[in-house]
Amino acid sequence: MIIAIDGPAASGKSTVARAVARRLGFRYLDTGAMYRAVAAEAIRLGRPLEDATAMTGLAETIRVSFAYDSGDPVPYGVFVGSRDVTREIRTPAVDAAVSLVARIPGVRRAMVPLQREFAGGTDTVVEGRDIGSVVFPDAAVKVFLTASPEERARRRVGDRAAAGHEAAVAAVATDIARRDTIDSTREASPLVAAAGARHIDTTGASVDEVVDRIEALVREAVA
Ligand code: DC
Repeated sequence: MIIAIDGPAASGKSTVARAVARRLGFRYLDTGAMYRAVAAEAIRLGRPLEDATAMTGLAETIRVSFAYDSGDPVPYGVFVGSRDVTREIRTPAVDAAVSLVARIPGVRRAMVPLQREFAGGTDTVVEGRDIGSVVFPDAAVKVFLTASPEERARRRVGDRAAAGHEAAVAAVATDIARRDTIDSTREASPLVAAAGARHIDTTGASVDEVVDRIEALVREAVA
């Protein structure tokens, strides 16, 4: 079974998707990490982010993989080839670059088959922007998470602080709004709630409450 979790930046997707995978014993795929890895590699190689041909070539040849501790479906690391990019893909530079790279159709065409292959017919929680709409339109459970802009900015500042990057809430709010606009208005697989997706507003909700709701949807889907 596929559980597709989509939503805008800092809507709580990663926290919730990881908790769902751990609670249900499903595999977990963070598709945003794959786009981030392409953006990080482009920056490292000094390739122009706006160059669709260069970015597509990079996406077609990059080898992104995840590293796991035994028994945990949530990876502790992300690798490009043998290079550990776990921290690099969460830097403000990659935050700023990734929407530009992810909107290139050739980049998406290269990533989507890898995402389908990863799940490979097994029970998997997949999080992203187009999972319920494009990557797994037949997912048994589709969830679209939202949260108020203020809550999302506060969460992202918390994430950044945990990663050692200080940021002001106002600046982060502006950056999130900019990314939402790019992600929602691009031509290739824009961020939209998929047909049949359940909307869950995570503002003020605990992770457990949201996971309980998704677990109830899973029970409904198998009933
Ligand atoms: O979820 P995230 O913040 O790690 O996503 C990083 C970027 O990748 C974000 O700008 C949207 C893009 N993305 C996408 O276009 N499609 C996906 N399935 C996942 C992420």
